Amino acid sequence: MSQKVFSTEAPPSSVLHASLSINPPKIVRAEGHYLYTTDGTKIFDASGGAAVSCLGHNNARVKRAIMDQLNKVEYTFSPHFTTDAYEQLAKFLVDSTGGAMKKVFVTGSGSEAVEACLKMARQYFMELPEPQPQRTRFIARDRSYHGNTIASLSVSGHKARRAIYEPMLLQNMSFVSPCYPYRDMRKGETDEQYVARLAQELEDEFQRVGPNTVCGVVLETMAGLTLGAVAPVPGYLKAMKAVCERHGALFVLDEVLAGMGRTGTLHAWEQEDVVPDLQTVAKGLGAGYAPIGALLVGKKVVDVLSQGTKAFMHFQTYHGHPTACAAAYEVQQVIKDEGLVENCRKMGIYLGERLRDRLGVHKNVGEIRGRGLVWAIELVQDRVTKAPFPVQTKVAPTIHAAGLQKFAIALLPGGGVVDGMNGDLVVLAPPYTITREDVDLIVEHTAKAIESILGPAETTAKL
Ligand SMILES: Cc1ncc(COP(=O)(O)O)c(C=O)c1O
Repeated sequence: MSQKVFSTEAPPSSVLHASLSINPPKIVRAEGHYLYTTDGTKIFDASGGAAVSCLGHNNARVKRAIMDQLNKVEYTFSPHFTTDAYEQLAKFLVDSTGGAMKKVFVTGSGSEAVEACLKMARQYFMELPEPQPQRTRFIARDRSYHGNTIASLSVSGHKARRAIYEPMLLQNMSFVSPCYPYRDMRKGETDEQYVARLAQELEDEFQRVGPNTVCGVVLETMAGLTLGAVAPVPGYLKAMKAVCERHGALFVLDEVLAGMGRTGTLHAWEQEDVVPDLQTVAKGLGAGYAPIGALLVGKKVVDVLSQGTKAFMHFQTYHGHPTACAAAYEVQQVIKDEGLVENCRKMGIYLGERLRDRLGVHKNVGEIRGRGLVWAIELVQDRVTKAPFPVQTKVAPTIHAAGLQKFAIALLPGGGVVDGMNGDLVVLAPPYTITREDVDLIVEHTAKAIESILGPAETTAKL
């Protein structure tokens, strides 16, 4: 499979691009759902970058809010000063949880939110009336992703992303199976039995490492890019939280990707009948108009800190950045005013139907899954055995390149879904502003990109 690329003839770049030998296409303008390259190619942004651009590009209201904030105060050091922008965004987030989360710490990215979260969990146990300094461990899931700084990568279970850094990663993390029915549910097993098996595995892991050594269990409410848009089986998160509670550990939900509307409710946990003790959000929070993430701290943890040192032992130069907060606050107001979470839910249902109609019969499509506006197409060599393509064949990256070059659509390629190395995904995460016509375009162009590499859809049993 040969991979053609954009602008191989481009002049040398000083940027440390993802590839040192290939320059990616240069975007000179973006509007609505489209990105425009130097040569005038108009690309449909069906991935919102990395599941970020939930409003589409060039939103006038958000641009105005950023300018207004710049005219007031562009930056302050948050340990020393506060701003209306930070206060307003934090209040919006607390209110959006019905008060379940009590305080908000704004960061510059999802990874930083996860870092802050791990430290907050540790601090909670140090500030209990009877401190528990032996609690240093976290349990997360195999093939998960929680970020790329050392601590957030340490708590991520994706082998390929960890590989070369493994000897430098923190040792106080361990991993249990993800909730991944397509590959892991046994024949004849019910949802209840599957959930009970996963809860038992978590219980066993607590016992293995010592139940009173665990600060928290860190899960994506809906697995995003590395496992590929896998929604939890009903009752799964509740069962996982029950194990945490049994052992006094914190229940941590990473909603960096799944949060802020992406799955069809503002917080993905609203659909699961659970409330986390700590929560992270990022991508859809600022919709790409500012680099921003946030840690949301639940009542239980805030109460302990309030009785303890009354201070979070963590800060960064840019945390609570006023311009980023103003951008994110306006993004959230646009989402509310335009009913975009509702549209995300509706368009998500339509997108799922159309993907199954168009690609459900393809011999290499193993599963089409998603919720809201994050969908994944898992590609296999064989639908019966579910054997993946070997990683060396670069199926998903090649489809991604074909999408850009031949069908003017930006997709997200994913890999490692089977074992952290092998197993290809094509992920879609378009803006919440899309229409039915946009969905039709996305599905047709995605299907064509896949067919251009794997051949046309063959009529086998539909998924
Ligand atoms: C679930 C999850 N957590 C954390 C991160 C890291 O966020 P960032 O790339 O903004 O640092 C990501 C990024 O994809 C993510 O999907």
